[in-house]
Amino acid sequence: MEIKEQISNLKSMVNSYKLTYLIITANNLGIFNCLSEDIKSLKQISEELNVTDIKIEPILNGLVYHKIICKSENGYFLEQYKDILLKNSKYNQTGYIDFAQTVMMKYDNLENAIKDNNFSLKNFRDLTDEQADNFINGMQANAIPQAEYIANNYNFENHTILDVGAGAGTYLINVAKKYESVKGKMIDLPKVSKIQNKNIEKENLQNRLVSVSCDYNECFPKEKYDDVFLFAVIHQEPKDNVKKLLDNIYDVLKPNGRIFLTSFFLNDDKISPEFSVQFAIEMLVNSKDGKVYTHSEIKNLLKESKFTDIKRIEEIPTTADLYIARK
Ligand SMILES: C[S@@+](CC[C@H](N)C(=O)[O-])C[C@H]1O[C@@H](n2cnc3c(N)ncnc32)[C@H](O)[C@@H]1O
Repeated sequence: MEIKEQISNLKSMVNSYKLTYLIITANNLGIFNCLSEDIKSLKQISEELNVTDIKIEPILNGLVYHKIICKSENGYFLEQYKDILLKNSKYNQTGYIDFAQTVMMKYDNLENAIKDNNFSLKNFRDLTDEQADNFINGMQANAIPQAEYIANNYNFENHTILDVGAGAGTYLINVAKKYESVKGKMIDLPKVSKIQNKNIEKENLQNRLVSVSCDYNECFPKEKYDDVFLFAVIHQEPKDNVKKLLDNIYDVLKPNGRIFLTSFFLNDDKISPEFSVQFAIEMLVNSKDGKVYTHSEIKNLLKESKFTDIKRIEEIPTTADLYIARK
């Protein structure tokens, strides 16, 4: 590669953090909530956000440059990303942008996480209420399209379902809304379990769903289930814990019962796909002993726990992969 191109590529990689800051700042200022498909003038936007037009204009133009929002001669509006940025859209991803701030702070510790063997980080247990809310919003934004995919593509008629590390409860709530015969339990750490029960009540599903506070490494439900969900959990845990978790799940499943699990998996070369490579780095600062597993590793772990009929489903609408297996 020519020297000029090497320099220019390196600069653009080093500067990529500026776009992250731009998006987070725009979100915090309320720009995405303020814009819609109807054009708003610079004056209108600056008045609504209570900031001067001179200061907000470069931010808006930066967002236009990156094609996140649009500009016409009369003002600014949402177009390409309207489904995920419009205030009332069910696919709204601004919760994910909020959560990115928490993750960004953790990246400040990346060097420590690698050099210091005693590096201990604040994990889920130590989240403040505000961080727990941000985390849950981020999880929910992520989970909605996947939850819809699962509810629409698999049969859950008359099933009892256990959702392990259920986050916002998005998966079980979506499935229970589609199947009125579904009953289920969520388990999670105390702070998150409390939020899950609130979300269950919000949807008026408390006669069929419940969340129970339970550390899955220390205790596990005893009653039997048709399906167990284990979404975006295994990368938080070292291999031994995943093995124990899969054994416990096998035990609570009824004969022929299904496990549904997602995570970001690496190909066996461990340098692809891009998102999983990045996520493997993120887990260094985001979890104590977690790791990103390869497809071979998860298939072997499922086999070791006696699961059969192991299927990898790539069509799920996300960068994660879905595995389904049977007892
Ligand atoms: C990345 S989130 C995934 C949430 C949800 N399954 C989803 O996909 O949207 C991981 C979840 O595991 C929960 N969790 C972490 N450690 C746990 C533990 N030891 N016992 C129970 N839940 C735990 C977290 O509180 C969080 O809700």
